[in-house]
This record gives sequence, structure tokens and C-alpha cells, in this order.
Amino acid sequence: MNIPFNKPHLTGKELHYVAEAHARGQLAGDGYFTKRCSQWLEQRSVAAKALLTHSCTAALEMAAILADIQPGDEVIMPSYTFVSTANAFVLRGGVPVFVDIRADTLNIDETLIEAAITPRSRAIVPVHYAGVACEMDSIMDISRRHQLVVIEDAAQGVMASYKGRPLGTIGHLGCYSFHETKNIISGEGGALLINDATLAERAEIIREKGTNRSQFFRGQVDKYTWVDIGSSYLPGEIIAAFLWAQMQEAEDITGNRLAIWEQYHAGLAGIEAEGRLRRPIVPPDCQHNAHMYYLLMRDLDDRMAFIDTMKQQGIHCVFHYTPLHSAPQGRIGGRASGTLPVTSSLADRLVRLPLWVGLGDMQKTIIDQALNTLREPARMSLT
Ligand SMILES: Cc1ncc(COP(=O)(O)O)c(C=O)c1O
Repeated sequence: MNIPFNKPHLTGKELHYVAEAHARGQLAGDGYFTKRCSQWLEQRSVAAKALLTHSCTAALEMAAILADIQPGDEVIMPSYTFVSTANAFVLRGGVPVFVDIRADTLNIDETLIEAAITPRSRAIVPVHYAGVACEMDSIMDISRRHQLVVIEDAAQGVMASYKGRPLGTIGHLGCYSFHETKNIISGEGGALLINDATLAERAEIIREKGTNRSQFFRGQVDKYTWVDIGSSYLPGEIIAAFLWAQMQEAEDITGNRLAIWEQYHAGLAGIEAEGRLRRPIVPPDCQHNAHMYYLLMRDLDDRMAFIDTMKQQGIHCVFHYTPLHSAPQGRIGGRASGTLPVTSSLADRLVRLPLWVGLGDMQKTIIDQALNTLREPARMSLT
């Protein structure tokens, strides 16, 4: 038996649209399929503008330029996140200030943000872990009172919402990922949602190598030229064509994943009641997208024993982030606000179970095997 942790899902239309992109005669970016994808994002999310990018990393880098991060500016974020959340700002000379996470959602603890603010603070980057929203009302309130830009790292948050508002559309800027490990995919891929309309024109320029090329193609200027800093953040039409096939099936994909998530949640309720682990908690204001099903074990030894035993049975479960405040680059270039005890504890205890469209009957095997592993002391030394 071999059950991978992730298996990229195809809707069946991807290659057809890729062939169509070629037939249309444009393979560089901002063609027919890029426009379809951007419109889909703008309609679904009511963002002022949505721009496809190569990755969520690229979208975060654009956001850091748009937020005008200068050397020494501080950017408040969780330590329990992917490295790109911090790197995008460090590349501009920014200093990540790491705040602890909430024990329930593993998202930035909004009650600790104000203590991390200094005169150098410039932005807050909430990360919606596992597609479950951060407490955005409080975060937006803090940002208004302290004039901070909010950049949502919604890499995992496509099709999820907070109080009915799609993730990525609540802050000034939002960043999505379409990496193959996400719900809606194009191999590598991402998008920047520009919710503050005053940033839209500059965002287009930054994405087009610092030129006003987009305005030229719309006939707004008679030639295009270098007007700002920027880079090549624009994906080609092959990526966009693939992504369009996925976007058309986004509701079905999300529904399918949610059914798998619910099945894990029901199947593992009993073992949680026995005190062996903790299942994910989704606050009532959050509609998640079943990006991930994770378990919190009692300690690091339990977690490693669980992963090893499941692997011996051909089931690939994985842990997640190493906290950035304790990583070598995080210690040099960032600073922790306080001691981050929740981050350190949960990062050691978290394990993710396989969750992909097409898992089918294999899910029952995974749940049965997880229960056996956790209940049989011979298999796993639980104190
Ligand atoms: C929270 C978070 N931010 C950013 C990224 C980077 O996304 P991408 O691979 O599209 O650059 C990831 C990737 O897993 C992520 O989990």
C-alpha cells in the first residue's frame, strides 16, 4: 500500500485549455486565460483588482513593494508560517516581528499584536492557517488605529471565508497560492488581490517589470516605458489555461475536500475524547475550505512515532513548519515578540493526514490505521 500525502487533482479540462492557449497564438501572459482567471477572482472575491502571479511568494513580494517597506521597517506576523511570509519583506530590508499563535486555530494571536507594535511598525501579515480565518475584525481595528497595512497571507485560503467575506479580500492586499499542494492548482501559481483600489495601478506596473506596459496594451499610453521598480511576476498563458480548468470546478473540489475533512473529524472524535490527541478547531465565524486535516499529538515523541508507524503501513503523514523565529535566518533578520510558547509547543506536535480529491476508500484505511497506531501501546509508546 502507498497512500501519498498529496496527489494533484486534475478536472480533465486542463490539457484541452492548454492546447487552446496555443491555438489562440499567445503563450506569454495576460492573454485570454489570464483574463478569465482574474475575472473569476474579482467576481468571487469583490477585490478591486486580482493579478495572477507565478506564486504566492511572488504575490507577497509585490505586496511588500506596494506597502512601501523600507530598510528597518517592522512587519508583524506569526512565526508559525511558511518562509515566504517573512522573506518577501526581508528582501526589502524589513524586519519580521514574530508574534505567538492562538492555541485553537494556530493563527496569529490578535490579542498579542499591539504589544509588538513600535514606531517602526509598518504592516501586519495574518496567515490563515489551514484555510481557517484569523480574527480579522480585531486585526483590521488594530491596523486602523495604528495606520498599519494589512497583507493577508491567504496562500491556503482560496474558497474560505470569515463572516461571509472571502479570505484575501479583508486586508488591503491578499495573496493566494495555486501550488500543487493547494486546493486549486496550476503547478506553481498565485494571485495578488488588491482590495485598496489606490494601489491597483502601481501593482500592475510592479508586476510588469516596473513598466506601464499594461496601460499601453489598453491604449492608455502611446508607448510603454520604465516608470517604477518591479520584476517579472506575470505567469504565462499555459499556467493560466491550466488554472482556468481548476477554477471552473472550484466549488466541486472544495465540496469534495470538505466531505473528506468531515469524515476524518467524525472518525477521530472518539480518540480525541480519550485524550490521545486534539482535532482541528474551526470558530463559528470561519467557513474553511478543507485545505488540511491535522492532528495535535501530545508531544514530539508521539508525533514522530505516529509518522513512522503510519509510514511503515504505506501511509504518508507529514509535519509542518519549523517556527521562523528559531530558524537560522529568523534569528539573524527577525525578532520574536515575547517567548512564543504556543508556537514552539504546537509546531512539535502537529501532523497532517493525506487529504486529496480521489482519496476514496483509502480514507477508511487511514482512519483505521491511525486508531490502531494510537491505541496499541506496542506500536507506539504512549505514556
Ligand atoms: C502560508 C504560506 N504562505 C506562502 C506560501 C508560498 O506559496 P507559493 O508556493 O505559491 O509561493 C505557502 C506555501 O505553502 C504557505 O503555506
